[in-house]
Amino acid sequence: MAPENIVLLSSREIGKMRQAGRLAAELLDYLEPMVKPGVSTLEINDEAERWTQEHGAKSAPLGYHGFPKSICTSINEVVCHGIPNAKQILKDGDIINIDVTPIVDGYHGDTSKTFFVGTPSPKAKQLVDVTRECMMRGIAEVKPGARIGDIGAAIQEYAEAQGFSVVRDFVGHGVSKIFHTAPQIPHYGNRGRGKRIRPGMVFTIEPMINEGTWEVKVLADKWTAITKDRKLSAQFEHTVAVTEDGVEILTLREEEALVKSA
Ligand code: MF3
Ligand code: CO
Ligand code: CO
Repeated sequence: MAPENIVLLSSREIGKMRQAGRLAAELLDYLEPMVKPGVSTLEINDEAERWTQEHGAKSAPLGYHGFPKSICTSINEVVCHGIPNAKQILKDGDIINIDVTPIVDGYHGDTSKTFFVGTPSPKAKQLVDVTRECMMRGIAEVKPGARIGDIGAAIQEYAEAQGFSVVRDFVGHGVSKIFHTAPQIPHYGNRGRGKRIRPGMVFTIEPMINEGTWEVKVLADKWTAITKDRKLSAQFEHTVAVTEDGVEILTLREEEALVKSA
């Protein structure tokens, strides 16, 4: 990621990002019923690609710096950037993060969720619940005048208090017509540090939280990142826009909107 300046989007552009974000959220909802024992990650990928095209959009990951598939599927000890594969079959008790990024009219909607395949172990359930809460606590820090470091601090405080660790090697990012741009959003750090958050900024918050060590290694395929100790890792991601008085989650799914208004 080059150290470009942070671009503030106009309300017209945020409208475009809203459309892309909505399609990304709908895509995750559409894929959810496929997450069952016996299904391959390639089948999920192919259905995502088909649905994306049917909706007049493009899959940003496909061909991005040579990434070979349309979505990322990261199972159990895989931290991120897992590559869908016909031989990789979901089994009961797995956790799988599905990360989608459709491009709608040039703008990217980037979101992911960790799903349970069948019945999770208590540890897996706890890790996934904590990771979702980490993302939401990070988002809750976003408002004009706060600092980017406040986001990571809130995430790290909660994750570590629950006995888990925060991945350092991958961060959230500015997103618009460009998939990955400034600012970088670390999911660890210190309050009061980093650039000031301003209305019109659009970026992702996508904490990867590990059961054991935060350290990762990348496999020989140059993409798949796994935990060094092979323990579990979970992730959630939303694309958010900074408004005049707070934050708008551009990739909110219906299930989350219902929880919020309840
Ligand atoms: N969607 C991922 C992110 O959240 C990026 C995937 S890049 C790919 O930033 F090339 F692996 F697809
Ligand atoms: Co992202
Ligand atoms: Co993503």
